[in-house]
Amino acid sequence: MAEIENKILVTGAFGQIGSELVPALQQKHGKDNVVAMGHRNIPSRFDGILEKADPRNISDIEKIIKDHNILTIYHLVSLLSVTGEKDPGLTWDINMNGLINILDLAVKYQNRVFWPSSIAAFGPTTPQDNTAQKTVLEPTTMYGATKVAGENLCRYYFITYGLDIRSIRYPGLISWKAEPGGGTTDYAVAIFYDGLRKGEYNCFVRKDTVLPMMYMDDAIRGTVELMDADLDVAKRREARDWDSYNLAAISFQAQELAEELKKHIPNLKVEYNPDHRQAIADSWPNSIDDSLARSEWGWKHEFDLPKMTKVMVDNLRKNSI
Ligand code: SER
Repeated sequence: MAEIENKILVTGAFGQIGSELVPALQQKHGKDNVVAMGHRNIPSRFDGILEKADPRNISDIEKIIKDHNILTIYHLVSLLSVTGEKDPGLTWDINMNGLINILDLAVKYQNRVFWPSSIAAFGPTTPQDNTAQKTVLEPTTMYGATKVAGENLCRYYFITYGLDIRSIRYPGLISWKAEPGGGTTDYAVAIFYDGLRKGEYNCFVRKDTVLPMMYMDDAIRGTVELMDADLDVAKRREARDWDSYNLAAISFQAQELAEELKKHIPNLKVEYNPDHRQAIADSWPNSIDDSLARSEWGWKHEFDLPKMTKVMVDNLRKNSI
């Protein structure tokens, strides 16, 4: 029965990715088959199955998995790069202890798992252009450290316990449904909100800063496609190999985004006053080689800079932010 086959738990359901992944999964599998788990910041108008828990508390998560007969887990809970530097100890605690609890439970209950990594797994010693899938991973943020450690943990569980865990290294994600939430790439979201609300934006990175970015619809579609993909897991396991897939779409300078946005807001004023976040941006690549995702499961992005900018402006205006 489809209901039993696809019972899904999404942790971090009301964060940047979860806010858009949950409705997409509800649409695909039905509202009765998606359990949205939040901790704080649960919107009062959420329409669906809701659980409130902290992933660091393993017995609460185990109860949710058993109560709802969960088969697939999207474990999205994470503090991002800028928030992470404010309390590195808490970031390690939430990002890593939450993940290891989910992995242990997934082994016990034979769940499939999705876990997000990030371009933050890279660092200043990583080659910055067309960054390869397998490359130097020496991040300089706590968030990045948890992403590298998380990738290693996922590989270990895949090889040692045969866990079907899949992962993407997301670039900066741009969406209109959730306000910017503590990331370095969030300048590319904040510029839309401030641009439309105030007609001006004070950008915290230099105008020539280039980072890999993606419109959220592409990221959500890619995530669902990866989980649906018929991957040759057996071959990978035999080779004792596992990857969090590099995923790319668009790379642009901050000033190129501003110029594109000016086509919709002609009087937009943008100032560039780089702060401590510039060092984080500088430590990440300019562009990503995602040929493994393209060849292994057919990844292809749809939104370029003009299309993304237009859809952001149209939706934000429609929702009169
Ligand atoms: N968007 C994230 C951040 O800037 C990167 O994964 O922290």
